[in-house]
Amino acid sequence: MYQDNTMNITQKVSLKQYNSFGISSFADKIIECQSVEDIISSLNILVSSKYYILGGGNNILFDNEYHGIIIRPNIHGISIVNNNEKYIDIRVGAGEDWDSFVAYTVENNWGGLENLSLIPGTVGASPVQNIGAYGAEVKDCILNVEGLFVHSGCSFNFSREDCLFGYRNSIFKSRFKEDAIITYVTFRLSKHPQVNISYAPVRDAMAIRGTNTIQAVREEIINIRNSKLPDPKITGNAGSFFKNPEVPLKTFEELKANYPNIPSFPLDNGDVKIPAAWLIDQCGWKGKSLGRAAVHHIQPLVLINNGDATADDILLLARTIISDIKNKFGIELNMEVNYVK
Ligand code: EPU
Repeated sequence: MYQDNTMNITQKVSLKQYNSFGISSFADKIIECQSVEDIISSLNILVSSKYYILGGGNNILFDNEYHGIIIRPNIHGISIVNNNEKYIDIRVGAGEDWDSFVAYTVENNWGGLENLSLIPGTVGASPVQNIGAYGAEVKDCILNVEGLFVHSGCSFNFSREDCLFGYRNSIFKSRFKEDAIITYVTFRLSKHPQVNISYAPVRDAMAIRGTNTIQAVREEIINIRNSKLPDPKITGNAGSFFKNPEVPLKTFEELKANYPNIPSFPLDNGDVKIPAAWLIDQCGWKGKSLGRAAVHHIQPLVLINNGDATADDILLLARTIISDIKNKFGIELNMEVNYVK
């Protein structure tokens, strides 16, 4: 067996504490890497086996058994690499907790990430799915992303443009899926923050408060999230389980003729985004259970573990919802959560 003093390698391990769904799956092995050197030392093992790169495990559904290696790039450290009158650039280790980092930036009045408050996960996972909420996406604050390619062993340093960010998407989910291990992310934040209140509930809450600081935005977003979304520490879940579907304008207009109240958000390319939460709600799934899995009673986009659900329970519920929505609306929902098998 490969050994290293600084690296923690565990054999045949329960993944329950490594996924926010709280599902008791197993993997053959977990490698925890505390440094870039740890990752380089483990590349040899990775290239010759099946592996999965894990961040905080907040956007994942593991199958019952994962016959492979889980690698966790748990690199820490926050350093200021550039600081001028207008902005500050901060380089952050992939293993840093996302919301602790956001809290630190807001305390210092460095603007840009406050709308992404309380999103569970690690800094290294944030560019992979281009986390987004309340009118903001992390891509707008990312300057560059560093890491290593598993198969070539080469390092990379991608600019924001290189990352090909899209809605819950990036080059790390497409071309370099499972080949790029992110080690550091550098963010550019504003020293003269402008609040982003494009999301109506945030705008309303700020109007009531009568302030427009990023500290107030963070507080309001924490309040909204706490009132709408289940806390994964208490109820197993992985946030939005599905993506919001995007349909051509013509399809939307046909739907609107049958469902005049259908909510919609026009996209720059002419397509229309429809909230999956509304579609699920219309199919009567809000708050309903199927076996040991359930649909959250406030935000139906979130599937929850009722206690001792398996991956099969969650998948059965997800597939039933997908099929009901297809039958009723002709729309195909896609999973936002990564299914790892
Ligand atoms: N809606 C219903 N019934 C409900 C709840 C919502 O019909 O019971 C409809 C309403 O029309 C509402 C709409 O769904 O206006 C949108 O709901 P919400 O504003 O809560 O946002 P979302 O589109 O469902 C997205 C993100 C969330 C993010 C929120 C807020 C995706 C897949 N999800 O959800 O992200 O927090 O916007 O910006 O884009 C996550 O990724 O884990 C996540 C929680």
